[in-house]
Amino acid sequence: MADTFDLLLLNGTVVNQDGVGTRNIGIRSGRIAAIGALAGVSAGETIDCAGLHVLPGVIDTQVHFREPGLDHKEDLESGSRAAVLGGVTGVFEMPNTNPLTTSEATLADKVRRATRRMHCDFAFWVGGTRENAHEVAELERLPAAAGIKVFMGSSTGSLLVEDDEGVRAILRNTRRRAAFHSEDEFRLRARLDERRPGDPTSHHVWRDVEAAVSSTSRLLRIAKETGARIHVLHISTRDELPLLAAAKDYASAEVTPHHLTLSSDDYARLGTLLQMNPPVRETFHRDGLWEGLASGILDILGSDHAPHTLEEKAKSYPQSPSGMTGVQTLVPVMLDHVANGRLSLERFVDMTSAGPARLFGIAGKGRIAVGYDADFTVVDLKRRETIKNEQAGSKAGWTPHHERKVTGWPVGTIVRGNMRMWEGELAAAGGGQPIRFSETLGASA
Ligand code: DOR
Repeated sequence: MADTFDLLLLNGTVVNQDGVGTRNIGIRSGRIAAIGALAGVSAGETIDCAGLHVLPGVIDTQVHFREPGLDHKEDLESGSRAAVLGGVTGVFEMPNTNPLTTSEATLADKVRRATRRMHCDFAFWVGGTRENAHEVAELERLPAAAGIKVFMGSSTGSLLVEDDEGVRAILRNTRRRAAFHSEDEFRLRARLDERRPGDPTSHHVWRDVEAAVSSTSRLLRIAKETGARIHVLHISTRDELPLLAAAKDYASAEVTPHHLTLSSDDYARLGTLLQMNPPVRETFHRDGLWEGLASGILDILGSDHAPHTLEEKAKSYPQSPSGMTGVQTLVPVMLDHVANGRLSLERFVDMTSAGPARLFGIAGKGRIAVGYDADFTVVDLKRRETIKNEQAGSKAGWTPHHERKVTGWPVGTIVRGNMRMWEGELAAAGGGQPIRFSETLGASA
């Protein structure tokens, strides 16, 4: 009897560990059941992907979706709507909500709110603090926990562990890879006067290169001492790259599309919309980040989607909050760099699927392979589009890339065999499930 699938993706150019080539994919019960010519099979639904590339589902390991507590900026539904509209199938969400995600109860509350309501799959970072340092080993193993996240420099919200002893207390206890916002709070405090009222261009003068370098060197030293595995988020300086290159055994690194695409020259155009922590810097650093990407020092991409309303962003600097949207524009902005020859499609795929799966031990995602979750980002590499605020799924309703012309566009988002977005339309809504991790499979069962 011929094989029967729930869904067949036909004639797409599949990009996976096997290379790039035309292949058909059969999906059954949310998983990839067969890859190949698949002649004579039948399926409940068939999608013709001729002319399109079928990529492993894009996983964005750094988003702020603001629920609970800051729901006027975003919530788990609207943030995940932006994600799937942008081709993202899974996210790791950040703990600086209100209340902070620093305990079993606050994590369980987020999981309850997210399950089946979010449009993509999800995991949540748990905030590491001085108070919970003794229990991070238990917290990081809870269902849907991505790991422990620590802010060494203050940003939106009150999470902060600025001193070496505090960081050491956490890293002595973590067993999974812990993520860090690495800016030196002591230096930031000492240089507050560098902020010029009304002038957002002073943001990267205040939060300078040395603030990032000094924090990252301290962090790497403590991680080495304690034998911990760490992940340094949103690298913004050329100067941190040699430090990270010397620490690949235990430290991985993330880079954002905005640090690779925008520069301090864009303050004139964007004003406080460009204000972000760590800051977008001079082209010298942006060019350095591309070198870090090409050489493999930078492992993965994360959007650091950090929405604030336009009213909030309209406040005069430094009352204006730091952060910009990004989860919906990660794929088109980076595919445009692929079209311009700045990175290969294979590298983009590695940085957004296999890379996160390797670093964080994601179970059953990150590859197009039989037995894996049927998560796909379907893209048209030739399509020319203009990014516009009006396309935004985010409650914030704006993007720093408004009016950017790009080549390459996400046309479909498929999560565990369910079409979530096709041609810009939200298809079957909701359905999000916790991402599973190989180190904590018992917890997620
Ligand atoms: O600019 C930022 N905004 N950087 C962060 O690390 C936090 C984020 C936010 O939550 O608004």
